Amino acid sequence: MDKAENADKSAPHNTAETTGMKRGLTSYGDQGFSLFLRKAFIKGAGYTDQALDRPVIGIVNTGSGFNACHGNMPQLVEAVKRGVMLAGGLPIDFPTISIHESFSSPTSMYLRNLMSMDTEEMIRAQPMDAVVLIGGCDKTVPAQLMGAASAGMPAIQLVTGAMLTGSHRSERVGACTDCRRYWGKFRANEIDQQEIDDVNNQLVASVGTCSVMGTASTMACIAEALGMTVPGGATPPAVTADRIRVAEQTGTTAVKLASERLTIDRILTPKAFENAMRVLLAIGGSTNAIVHLSAIAGRLGHTIDLDTLDRMGKETPVLLDLKPTGQHYMEDFHKAGGVATLLRELKPLLHLDALTVSGQTLGEQIEASGAGFKQDVVRSFAQPIYPQGGLAVLRGNLAPGGAIIKQSAADAKLMEHEGRAVVFENVEDLIARVDDDALDVNADDVLVLKNIGPVGAPGMPEAGYIPIPRKLARAGVKDMVRISDGRMSGTAFGTIVLHVTPEAAVGGALAYVRNGDRIRLSVVNREIALLVSDDELQRRAQATPIKRPTAERGYRKLFLQTVTQADEGVDFDFLRAASLQKDKPD
Ligand code: FES
Repeated sequence: MDKAENADKSAPHNTAETTGMKRGLTSYGDQGFSLFLRKAFIKGAGYTDQALDRPVIGIVNTGSGFNACHGNMPQLVEAVKRGVMLAGGLPIDFPTISIHESFSSPTSMYLRNLMSMDTEEMIRAQPMDAVVLIGGCDKTVPAQLMGAASAGMPAIQLVTGAMLTGSHRSERVGACTDCRRYWGKFRANEIDQQEIDDVNNQLVASVGTCSVMGTASTMACIAEALGMTVPGGATPPAVTADRIRVAEQTGTTAVKLASERLTIDRILTPKAFENAMRVLLAIGGSTNAIVHLSAIAGRLGHTIDLDTLDRMGKETPVLLDLKPTGQHYMEDFHKAGGVATLLRELKPLLHLDALTVSGQTLGEQIEASGAGFKQDVVRSFAQPIYPQGGLAVLRGNLAPGGAIIKQSAADAKLMEHEGRAVVFENVEDLIARVDDDALDVNADDVLVLKNIGPVGAPGMPEAGYIPIPRKLARAGVKDMVRISDGRMSGTAFGTIVLHVTPEAAVGGALAYVRNGDRIRLSVVNREIALLVSDDELQRRAQATPIKRPTAERGYRKLFLQTVTQADEGVDFDFLRAASLQKDKPD
């Protein structure tokens, strides 16, 4: 009997030193037999003992026929595997849930926590020394980072990369800011059925994630700013050689992470989250990222303080000229040097000593990226796209727990506005009445949509981009103040107040807004106020008490019972770090 067999028989006990195939053995009451059986089965796929002795790198494969944003998954998995093999590891890919924005009913956010649980538990259940998370579409990267943070394993993020832009009648187009722009033109009768059908073929020109600074691109940039990708990992488009090279480097880096036992909690520190918030502000990123960052931080016992974000916003200009805030697309950002170009400009505001998965600090990575070159996508501090950060945090009696406005993607004329509330009780009510010519609404009214929060919809759908009522759209109205407890796509544009907390469905003040009430928005004063007295609000609350929705069974029951509000990341309370849970374990 040789030494290796002896080692097998003496049986690993899932200690910190246990590695590779010996990790996390299935419980049969005989550890030696568990490993024997495991190896017998995996050898059915043709593995040798030499291969099985290597450190194992798990690769989360989120390919799905329903998810074109992940359409390059086979090439990425292949390249990651090559990188792992080059560095002496054994790559093994495995599936988890895949979520695409347009193929998730009622909304992708409803499924994000489920994907995070799937990711966490499959990382825990299967033997691996480090994990490569491959995601891209909006909710997938947050779900993977949440799950990996809870699993506590060395982990590295690879994003699928942005789609290419298309061309419609000589105009460059890309999902999804242009999807909304063209749909708005169609609703306003500015273009006909033939043209809307034509542009539908051009908006998504290849596999990959949305080509503007929507949530997917925002989370890609944030993942790099957090130190969770290889340098330059955020911006290569999905179908380029650069993306494949990044995948190979990711595999190689994963083996190094495994050998150094560089666990995710050493990367995702409070400093890393502050760096991510700076980048979020400077790219004019999606409002959704605030919710996701809160959820990821919450898994590690950290919090994202909205007032800190707002303070940072006042000192962090928008430097990236990308749609919907600016003009360009992700492929242009990549040609301009990607996130490194931005980080070089932001350097004075960053924690340069934050550690990254490469083993270097963020500051060392910026140094290694060189001097930069002339380009017109990332502006200098002296010539920003927008003088302050793209996002502002609002408070007031309508949102004591906070609300968000993406001021860089809003009409400057509406930043200080008071108007009459035109109220929709829920999405169904909105759909039924918003295009009715009899709707009593004017351009200076404030559109209010209730019950699209975490509990209300449920799942906080991206319905906060309330459409301009058709009769006003036809009259040329392009923007109005709109308020809801929901979210909006990062690709959308408008004066839209989102994430009103607490939401209507749990009895927030939003529940008691009535048609004709006056509402004041003041971005300068960071205020969102319902101009109704406290006494009157209390009378309304007593007259129509709110009952939190429930469900009889299944995931929906779990969701409705445990989902938190926007300021806590819309995570399930029991998934947050124990120190942050409402009912802390003894
Ligand atoms: Fe997947 Fe936009 S729909 S990134």
